Amino acid sequence: MIIKEAKFAGSAPGVDKTPDTRMHEYAFIGRSNVGKSSLINMLTKRKGLAMTSATPGKTMLINHFLINDSWYIVDLPGYGYAARSKKDLAKLDAMIRDYILQRRQMTNLFLLIDSRLEPQKIDLKFMEFLAENEVPFSIVFTKTDKLGKQKASGNVARYCERLLEQWEELPPIFVTSSENGTGRDELLGYIEEMNALPLLEDEPAQKFISKTNTDIMEKNAKEKSKCQTIAEKKYPGAAEDKADNGKVTEREVKQRTETLDFNPHSEGI
Ligand code: GTP
Ligand code: MG
Repeated sequence: MIIKEAKFAGSAPGVDKTPDTRMHEYAFIGRSNVGKSSLINMLTKRKGLAMTSATPGKTMLINHFLINDSWYIVDLPGYGYAARSKKDLAKLDAMIRDYILQRRQMTNLFLLIDSRLEPQKIDLKFMEFLAENEVPFSIVFTKTDKLGKQKASGNVARYCERLLEQWEELPPIFVTSSENGTGRDELLGYIEEMNALPLLEDEPAQKFISKTNTDIMEKNAKEKSKCQTIAEKKYPGAAEDKADNGKVTEREVKQRTETLDFNPHSEGI
């Protein structure tokens, strides 16, 4: 898909303040600092479209971007940033939860996972929340340029194996780098396929979600998309010379230990 136009369409502090549209939209979610805003800029090839920052917690609102005048990308705040006050965390969690459960136009949620890290409790719990609520979602591994090609594939495969201990099927999996554009064609191709689905705006939200979910599951089964195959197929090869062997900064380690006990249900998500 060619992105001819991408423009900021507004920020909202809650789903009730989001624009009433008749278009598909695709939201990006994940832990703070995982690379949501960077991925949006990579997909649209507009560096400053979504605000990024090396400091976690940059995105605090629901941000809509109109693409080609026909569909939306939504940048959501990250979850689990431990340095926030409990009150702010609860407010953001409620904002995220309400958007995900109530936004009828949301055709698919892209859940971003840092490819350098072992499966984190907070992300696994978030996936359980999505599955329990039949939210159609895909997993997007980020920052693979920070790993060598083999290491990235290995991490993704191990992550999928961990998921398969708990789940019968995997959601669609994408392997990306905002630094070198890995995964861009696959993600945009997938969005293009979903854009062709009817937007069942008059159906109750739950029905729409279930139908889309079934479509994705059927598609998965058809492609026999077991994780090893997907990891290899979707990974065209990041530049080895940029690899830093997945070094995780001290702040990132601190952040992840601090957020291990996050409970999506008690905290609002
Ligand atoms: P919040 O809005 O705070 O939740 O963060 P976010 O998930 O939107 O993350 P953001 O896109 O702001 O990126 C966080 C940091 O990671 C920034 O310093 C980015 O430059 C860096 N980053 C994001 N994606 C990549 C990537 O694919 N490769 C590399 N090397 N760095 C990345
Ligand atoms: Mg952001």
